[in-house]
Amino acid sequence: MQNVRHFVIMGVLVVAMSFGVYYGLNASGLYPVEASAQAIQVDWLMNLHMELISFFFSLIVVPLLYSLVVFHRRNGDTSDGQYFEGNTALEITWTIIPLVIVLGLGYIGAQNLTEINAADPDALSIQVIAYQWAWKFQYPEGFTSTDLYLPIDKQVNFELTSQDVIHSFWVPEFRIKHDVIPGTTEYLRITPIRLGSYKLRCAEICGVGHSYMIANVYVVSQADYDAWVAQQVQAAKTAATVPDPTRGQQFYQTGGCKACHSIDGSPGVGPTWKGLYGSQVKLTDGTTVSADDAYLVESIKSPNAKIVAGFSANVMPKFGSILSDSQIADLVAYIKTLK
Ligand code: CUA
Repeated sequence: MQNVRHFVIMGVLVVAMSFGVYYGLNASGLYPVEASAQAIQVDWLMNLHMELISFFFSLIVVPLLYSLVVFHRRNGDTSDGQYFEGNTALEITWTIIPLVIVLGLGYIGAQNLTEINAADPDALSIQVIAYQWAWKFQYPEGFTSTDLYLPIDKQVNFELTSQDVIHSFWVPEFRIKHDVIPGTTEYLRITPIRLGSYKLRCAEICGVGHSYMIANVYVVSQADYDAWVAQQVQAAKTAATVPDPTRGQQFYQTGGCKACHSIDGSPGVGPTWKGLYGSQVKLTDGTTVSADDAYLVESIKSPNAKIVAGFSANVMPKFGSILSDSQIADLVAYIKTLK
């Protein structure tokens, strides 16, 4: 009768603690908002794990603490403890139950993954080009952007490629992420379901500018998306004609330049752009060049051609394969404004 009483008390404590741990974990606000259809799937499975974790954590901790308090050795008690031979029934039980749970979770997980990867034949294809240290998006209409605009409630099939090292495509609010590997194309399907602005972050250590490898993500209505696409198509047509420092500045912010080059004279991985245009630049070979248009274009396209004194070769990617000539002209126009 004594034993039954202990089990009843522990049972009640286990149930109470399970709820406490579960609600405590949930209340800690571990997750960002669910902004994709895939996020709902991921969170559902994660929640199931959290429920199990809360229960099993309590199932172990409650009897442990209960035994410490209730069954500790009393003062003056010098007798030996009882001798146990083991308990075959108990051992079989606590082997089979976890086995069934793990197999069940494996099955549920595989089903969940199938649903997450389900392909919509009408999906929008966007090419994602990762490079040290920024993102570029190639849209089916032929233009590129450093911001990622997505229409709501439409599956997007991202085609992921890298120009240099391994990066990783990750928008926390979309939950799922995927490595971006040089020399191959990887695919990732996401269906945004919540209007708003988010951040795409690189989730793979990829060099000194890794932490700067962030792009803006905007989930907009279909009408706003169509308007944005039309505007980009129009901008791409006129871009070739006149260099524009504002476009150059935008690329500086989002295209990867900011990671290494300051615009206020402060030191960085590469030379600052403040006062650069028209200045005399000392090179590692002891010579001096004038920072004119030709020098800036060459340094963007082939950074190893001339190395500025105090800096190293092979640090900056060759932007000649990333930027168009008109984009480089925009950047030079921007550098000219940084007096
Ligand atoms: Cu790209 Cu980290």
